[in-house]
Amino acid sequence: MHTAVFFLACLPLALQALPFAVSSGSWSSRDIPPNNREARQAARLAITYHNYLSGSLHQLLEVAQVNKATLKVVPEIGRKYYVEFTARVSQTMENVGLCAATVFFQEAKPRPAINVNCSSAMIQKQASDDDYNFYTLMRSQTIPITGENIPDSFGYIEPQLEPVWHLARLGTSYVIWDKTAEGHEYNMAQIKSVKQVLRKDNFIAFDYDLYLYERPSEGMVSCSVHVVWIPGKPPKVDYSCTEDSENGSGYRTEDGSTSFGNFK
Ligand SMILES: *[C@@H]1O[C@H](CO)[C@@H](O)[C@H](O)[C@H]1NC(C)=O
Ligand SMILES: *[C@@H]1O[C@H](CO)[C@@H](O)[C@H](O)[C@H]1NC(C)=O
Repeated sequence: MHTAVFFLACLPLALQALPFAVSSGSWSSRDIPPNNREARQAARLAITYHNYLSGSLHQLLEVAQVNKATLKVVPEIGRKYYVEFTARVSQTMENVGLCAATVFFQEAKPRPAINVNCSSAMIQKQASDDDYNFYTLMRSQTIPITGENIPDSFGYIEPQLEPVWHLARLGTSYVIWDKTAEGHEYNMAQIKSVKQVLRKDNFIAFDYDLYLYERPSEGMVSCSVHVVWIPGKPPKVDYSCTEDSENGSGYRTEDGSTSFGNFK
């Protein structure tokens, strides 16, 4: 890091000394095909992060199509993607307009720095009503809700457990943002088991044991995720995951489990 900063500070001199050096100010920033894997991965990670911040269960967005992508490589610092894409609501497939995002994978930082704006992604009335109704129902619960294998092996989710599944997706959007390194992608695969945690305050909470699907290794990552939520706010999440080391791609040395959270 320090070497790089020092090097940047000396750049004008270096340019004078080296006539063949890169043109000043811009490191290699180039268009990449919007359809390629890196561009789509950056867009999907940005929308996952957007979902985390939105705090809505019933308006989880997904990428419809990537229209433009550029990549800027900053030696020794990292790789910064800029992507423009259209997004839709995953529950209704309704289009919600254009999004622009930067996703910066920094070598010395644990998780990507993401900035994402979507033109018309305001939480719709129906979604926020559905969020609130589920929230109220869960708060009135005197016996904790439990569930297993969501979805089941036929891909089926019982209707009354659907919001519990969406809350898992909202919670894991934080986990995915926190865990993702460039070239690797996580997706929520299945809830093994879930149990509501009854609380006396205004929040609702669930403990999940779930699987994330990792690409390109195609391995399953088993995670315990504690999610605390109130409508319209990013969830508070604590988690610990165990990589399947035999099937992992070995891009970083895992000691078997990690535990982070945003409970600060
Ligand atoms: C998002 O909007 C903010 C405020 O208008 C702006 O500063 C930022 O550059 C935008 N981000 C992207 C990726 O377009
Ligand atoms: C790794 O993956 C292979 C094939 O997908 C599977 O048969 C094997 O059981 C997995 N290993 C572990 C430790 O789960």
